[in-house]
Amino acid sequence: MFSSRIFKVVCEISPLPIWLFSGTCSDDQVLKKIYWNPNCTHIINWRGSLNRVPWNFSQSVKKIWFPFFFTFCIFPTLKRQLAPLRRCAFDLLQEHLGQRKKKGPHDILEIGIADGDNLPYYPDNSSLIALDPSEDFEELLKNNLKKHPQIMFKRKVTAMGENMVGVEDASVDVVVSTYVLCSVKDVRSVLKEVKRVLKPGGKFLFLEHVSYPKSEWNFLIQFLAAPVWRIYFGKCTINRNTGEEIQKAGFSNVEQETKYNKNVWLYMRPQIVGVATK
Ligand SMILES: C[S@@+](CC[C@H](N)C(=O)[O-])C[C@H]1O[C@@H](n2cnc3c(N)ncnc32)[C@H](O)[C@@H]1O
Repeated sequence: MFSSRIFKVVCEISPLPIWLFSGTCSDDQVLKKIYWNPNCTHIINWRGSLNRVPWNFSQSVKKIWFPFFFTFCIFPTLKRQLAPLRRCAFDLLQEHLGQRKKKGPHDILEIGIADGDNLPYYPDNSSLIALDPSEDFEELLKNNLKKHPQIMFKRKVTAMGENMVGVEDASVDVVVSTYVLCSVKDVRSVLKEVKRVLKPGGKFLFLEHVSYPKSEWNFLIQFLAAPVWRIYFGKCTINRNTGEEIQKAGFSNVEQETKYNKNVWLYMRPQIVGVATK
């Protein structure tokens, strides 16, 4: 019991030591920008000395250990942890779609779809446009779509959420975004684009992990871990106030709930789930 608690704590804070030993990397400028202020100089110097010693070790860790660790340990665990939250989000969408009387299929645009982890939760009569700047997941997405024949797949758009070229104005009933706004360059531009492509009264379903309130200790842990997290998790920013941005984006109504699900890794907590109406 005691050892499993220790294990849990070690897992929770593990990115902190990884940060210390992670060596110089392409994103070092980001680290410096964040920590380069007179009060933090000693942290950089201390970290700089540490870097020289484990340099070779840290390079092989990044090249070999991390891809393996994330593909086979972190991602499957996260998928399990996040499944109930996805269910909850799509149940909420279903409630909102009930208010929109519609005979034909729901035209849905999912931004940052990756390999399609949300497909099992889609409403039966869905017609889907998938958007993602990355082409790496396309094969996996195709395979996943085959398992969900109830979804009418229209096309994949390779574009950024900030500039959804190829998606017309007022053309979709629903935009779905799950765990995407943490990684985009400019949340406000993405939300502007979401509003542009939604039909009047259209719904924006969001499920995102956000920053802890500043008054909590976990905020500090997130703040310290954020630079290394960005490096290893595709520029994902764990301490972003996405909820506030959505509230300020000019939707006619925003229904939003914050969930502190203890089964989810500290860095992915809390989570906001909600539906904004254009
Ligand atoms: C953490 S994954 C989330 C994948 C999926 N939505 C889910 O719920 O599991 C983030 C996804 O957002 C995509 N992405 C990154 N930057 C983006 C941007 N600016 N606009 C749209 N998608 C982006 C990535 O390619 C990746 O597929």
